[in-house]
Amino acid sequence: MSIMPPSHRVWWNQPIHKIEVTWVIIALVWCLVLFLWMPYWHVYGEQNLSNESYKTSAELFEAKTQRMVDKYTVRTESEAEIPVVAPPAGSDVYLVGRLWDWWPILELEKDKSYRVHISSLDYQHGFSLQPVNINLQILPQYETVITLTPTTTGSFGIICNEYCGVGHHQMLGKIIVK
Ligand code: CUA
Repeated sequence: MSIMPPSHRVWWNQPIHKIEVTWVIIALVWCLVLFLWMPYWHVYGEQNLSNESYKTSAELFEAKTQRMVDKYTVRTESEAEIPVVAPPAGSDVYLVGRLWDWWPILELEKDKSYRVHISSLDYQHGFSLQPVNINLQILPQYETVITLTPTTTGSFGIICNEYCGVGHHQMLGKIIVK
């Protein structure tokens, strides 16, 4: 019972039982396996991209995105008239995460590489590209950059997987690959 003093007051000098040593070793080995699994999965899992990140501000990032939208918008989609932007292959493209959408819609070419810059204008969001399951943490004040080479054509949905308020479940976006 914990309210009683231990029978051996100097308990840390007692010899350790074999079973306990075994469990300590098992736990340690399992810790190491899981620890090594992280870099292993980064390389072979093909889901967690190596990203770069740079300091930015909401104003600066919004301006850069707007410049790309003004230059390369090809049409708009839905009643909300969301711009569909088709920047030249190989270029830098920008995606804004904010309450509560991913903006604009990007239209990319298959087998061409793009530098995709993503940032948040307000709070933390989770970029999650479906169905390929590419996930990135998107933070305000930081510009996350990945090199993306689409290998299949189609329409890919972006959802937000970091809770960001009452509109979180409606925070959607789209990348089209042609
Ligand atoms: Cu953005 Cu949840």
